Amino acid sequence: MKISVIGGGYVGLVSAACLAQLGHWVELIEIDPDRARSISQGRPQIYEKGLEALLSKHLGERLHVSSIYDHIAESDLSFICVGTPEGEGGRPDLSMVQSACRSLGRSLRDKSSYHLVVMKSTVLPGTTEGLVIPAILKHSRREGDEIGFCMNPEFLREGRAVEDFMHPDRIVIGCNDPISGELAESVYRGIEAPVVRTEIKSAEMIKYASNAFLATKISFANELGNLCKALRIDAYEVMKGVGMDHRINPHFLNAGAGFGGSCFPKDLSALIALAQSLDEKPLILRSVQEVNERQPLRLLELLEGKIGRLKGKRIAVLGLAFKNDTDDIRESRSIPVIMKLKEEGADIVAYDPKAVDSMKRLIQDIEYCPTAADALRGADACIVMTEWPEFSELDEEFDRMRSRVIIEGRRILSCRDIEGICW
Ligand code: UGA
Repeated sequence: MKISVIGGGYVGLVSAACLAQLGHWVELIEIDPDRARSISQGRPQIYEKGLEALLSKHLGERLHVSSIYDHIAESDLSFICVGTPEGEGGRPDLSMVQSACRSLGRSLRDKSSYHLVVMKSTVLPGTTEGLVIPAILKHSRREGDEIGFCMNPEFLREGRAVEDFMHPDRIVIGCNDPISGELAESVYRGIEAPVVRTEIKSAEMIKYASNAFLATKISFANELGNLCKALRIDAYEVMKGVGMDHRINPHFLNAGAGFGGSCFPKDLSALIALAQSLDEKPLILRSVQEVNERQPLRLLELLEGKIGRLKGKRIAVLGLAFKNDTDDIRESRSIPVIMKLKEEGADIVAYDPKAVDSMKRLIQDIEYCPTAADALRGADACIVMTEWPEFSELDEEFDRMRSRVIIEGRRILSCRDIEGICW
């Protein structure tokens, strides 16, 4: 099949590379010319395991990159994969979706045959039917039955997006007519996974409900973890026993400093804003958010309990990315920790294997180090914020500290003298 993918962010780029791997002819449209150029040279601005290998295999063969919409009409179907960052009042900002629909619609004006548009960007229920479909029909000046529409949410974890694309738990296809649904489903031929066909609105909601539920599991594990800590119980031992119940499952029960990233916090806010607009009370969702906001600050309470007032103390923060294997710091739990340490007048020295440059763009007035060992030298205490595997090797490096006070916000260290947030 000939597929055009609109948006070269992590979802669009990974989807385009994986669709090429599935044997399709793919054109990726990324309107930022610099970004488009670096992708076409096989140097994406994001790091995803396995992505560069796919790019070098397919670029110039089955995968092409462009910053203009000129060849859309030559494709059979288009995926919309543009970003929907948090906008006013917590709802997604749809400006990129609107502009993609405008450009896509215009480029379909002269196409005489059927075209399928598949919405992959995360949007609130009702958006595809209320905004995407009317905008594309308007700008293409075509009738509803000449263009088909589907909503096909993504469940890609950053850092593991290629693996998640090729081996999904399920493929959700929301559609209002069987022809569009069949065509969208056939794109994934070759991938072994159950396909769930729903209405468009349900597919949109499945994405939010999934992320909200995963975030809920984490905040639940953290709330229980805090209780465990007060009772001197190891929360990981407890959740191991809990997760073995197949009705619960062991995933996303890791207590720690809370969840970050570009998805969970934003999607929770959007769902809360949606509920409020419907006069519903999102009691659980708000609590999930509240637990997550308080969780990183508990690390500082633990720290103060150990070393007293933080003013003038040298604190090493290990881990800046919102999780390991990424340089993404969006909503990273290390941000509120650093902000609070600054407010308390601590002297902060930070290290991350990949995310130092990203954090430098946000926070300039702290010291950054090239290695964990450098950050630890002379520190009064250390806080571990990200589960980077290299941190599990640390031990003697902690002896360089003025005092071996180690507070762990993620369960990753294996040495002695650790105070875990929930263990
Ligand atoms: C998340 C979802 O996992 C994907 O399925 C979804 O497609 C994606 O959002 C999205 O909406 O695009 P991602 O944000 O990349 O993916 O990250 P996760 O691996 O889910 O982790 C999110 C946060 O939760 C991280 O800060 C992680 O450290 C934290 N976490 C995760 C915990 O604190 N405990 C856990 O047990 C698991």
